[in-house]
Amino acid sequence: MVRSRIAGIGKYLPAHVVANNDLQSVMETSDEWIQERTGIRERRYGIKHEETTTTMAAQAARVAIERAGITVEDIDFILFATLSPDYYFPGCGVLLQRELGITSTSIGAMDIRNQCTGFVYGLATGDQFIRSGMYKNVLVVGAEMHSMGLDYSTRGRNVTVIFGDGAGAVVLQPTQEKGQGILSSKLHADGSHAEKLAFINPGAHGGYHNRYLDEPVDYGYGNEEYGGIFLTEKMVREGMTYPYMDGPFVFKLAVQKFPEVIQEVLSEAGASIEDLRMLIPHQANLRISQFVQRNLKLRDDQVWNNIQKYGNTTAASVPIALCEAVEAGAIQRGDLVCLAAFGSGFTWGANLIRW
Ligand code: UT7
Repeated sequence: MVRSRIAGIGKYLPAHVVANNDLQSVMETSDEWIQERTGIRERRYGIKHEETTTTMAAQAARVAIERAGITVEDIDFILFATLSPDYYFPGCGVLLQRELGITSTSIGAMDIRNQCTGFVYGLATGDQFIRSGMYKNVLVVGAEMHSMGLDYSTRGRNVTVIFGDGAGAVVLQPTQEKGQGILSSKLHADGSHAEKLAFINPGAHGGYHNRYLDEPVDYGYGNEEYGGIFLTEKMVREGMTYPYMDGPFVFKLAVQKFPEVIQEVLSEAGASIEDLRMLIPHQANLRISQFVQRNLKLRDDQVWNNIQKYGNTTAASVPIALCEAVEAGAIQRGDLVCLAAFGSGFTWGANLIRW
């Protein structure tokens, strides 16, 4: 039976460290509030107008490719997960192909728009391409340059203090070795609360007539909407062009869905919590990870957390944490590893891997 294994893994974190105190100087917040509610001490920001989601992804991808013992020309498919793409379109998949210098046009490139769950969805998708025999070297990337799109005024503090920049990447290859590789993946979606954690402007939505918003909102669309211009002057002036999050609502669902999907993926593979060497949860909030750990009765050494240093890097958080755990020697060959994520959509999911 053919399965996919992670043949190489890499990460990239920009050098610029932004501590909680640095944010305190531009908005009303405090190191104490941020650490108490989220566990975050600092995050990284890419260099404005120099680094992008794609350039950071390329840095992580080069490491993953080298560790897999292949060259960029061996990559036959790219899966790119991000919510902070360089362009509205085309997606980052093709931009990464170009950035890596892949000249072959036999390669496929696809973008995944599943926010915090993007990498988990990406891994499950890449796994299917490998199992079907369609591709042999699938590059799965999660990368984010959040710092370019956050509201640095007090108005945006509940969102802004959480997020950081970074990238993680893996190369998936087929393996015939019994019991090794990605054993199972479970993916879920519930679009009924899509606007609870969302970044909707500029977008081709219905503006005032968007029936999914609790209250009608006037975005200042005049004749412009017929001209296909999604961004209005009013949106910019009134700060409508930033992510929105109903934090407590998201928190409550996250702590419920994480344990459920972890149990689900374990049970499909005929494994149990005691078999788990390492849980790599999406780094949304240290309090969420701690809740999940307690709920599943996992020891400290069975859960990897690094949100304290990097904040929430959305699609990049799972591969960055996985890479860090591997580099630290906390995951060894034969170990059972679970990746799990929950986020905007809402979408949630998990992958179970025999390393
Ligand atoms: O990765 C994608 C998925 N995202 C998540 O899983 C995030 C889930 N949610 C959370 O992590 C938490 O809800 C937050 C960390 C976002 C917020 O923590 P909270 O304990 O739920 O705070 P809250 O939003 O209920 O706000 C409590 C108070 C409010 O003040 P009042 O109304 O009580 O006076 C906020 O205005 O804290 C205030 N506040 C802040 N104060 C200082 C919100 N953000 C900040 C801030 N600094 N950065």
